[in-house]
Amino acid sequence: MADLKSKFLQVYSVLKSELLEDPAFEFTNDSRQWVERMMDYNVPGGKLNRGLSVIDSYQLLQEGRELTEDEIFLASALGWCIEWLQAFFLVLDDIMDGSHTRRGQPCWFRLPKVGMIAVNDGVVLRNHIPRILRKHFREKPYYVDLLDLFNEVEFQTASGQMIDLITTIQGEKDLSKYSLSIHRRIVQYKTAYYSFYLSVACALLMSGEELENHIDVKNLLIEMGIYFQVQDDYLDCYGNPETIGKVRFGEMYIQP
Ligand code: IPE
Ligand code: MN
Repeated sequence: MADLKSKFLQVYSVLKSELLEDPAFEFTNDSRQWVERMMDYNVPGGKLNRGLSVIDSYQLLQEGRELTEDEIFLASALGWCIEWLQAFFLVLDDIMDGSHTRRGQPCWFRLPKVGMIAVNDGVVLRNHIPRILRKHFREKPYYVDLLDLFNEVEFQTASGQMIDLITTIQGEKDLSKYSLSIHRRIVQYKTAYYSFYLSVACALLMSGEELENHIDVKNLLIEMGIYFQVQDDYLDCYGNPETIGKVRFGEMYIQP
């Protein structure tokens, strides 16, 4: 297991180097350094559960057959795409939530030299995903499904963020809109699809499966995702910031 994680981390270095040598852009030393620092700060520092579970799920789907190095690399690359997606959302989410710390360090936008450049950094992180997929999966029969999956999940997550933000406008101290059913919708869309369904869906596609044939799996993972986000919110409220690595200061939304 420690071995898988170290292999997974090695794949990060490979993907990072490829992105920093992307022929579609003529990097200068300064721009290359910026992107490298920005990726290192925001992409690999979390628990990596989402990314690692692509490899675990893929392994389970192969029923004990030992994976080739190539399969481990590809499953890891998909895992990293999920970590990239999360980094993109978190960089922007921390601005919107007015957060101070994340993963035990200041939020990226809080760094003096960063500020609102973080908005574009989020966009750049988001654009790295199709660059990675194109480089490593373009010839695969499931390439179109993979692109479609990431697009669908990104849309669901952004929509969940939207309903979260519009139901918790600070200053309007009106919690009457905040029912149990809207709460469930918020956490389902903003968290469950990208945090639980996406890893398994990636592993299924890599195994040659059609996602339409696994709706029961999807429903189960969505339930798990909802449970996870309820815990996340409880910890944000009552957890020790030193343990959970983030401070939000109860600021839901910064009024313009
Ligand atoms: C995180 O939502 C946003 C997404 C990744 C879509 P939250 O605001 O609930 O999460 P934390 O507490 O900042 O991590
Ligand atoms: Mn947040």
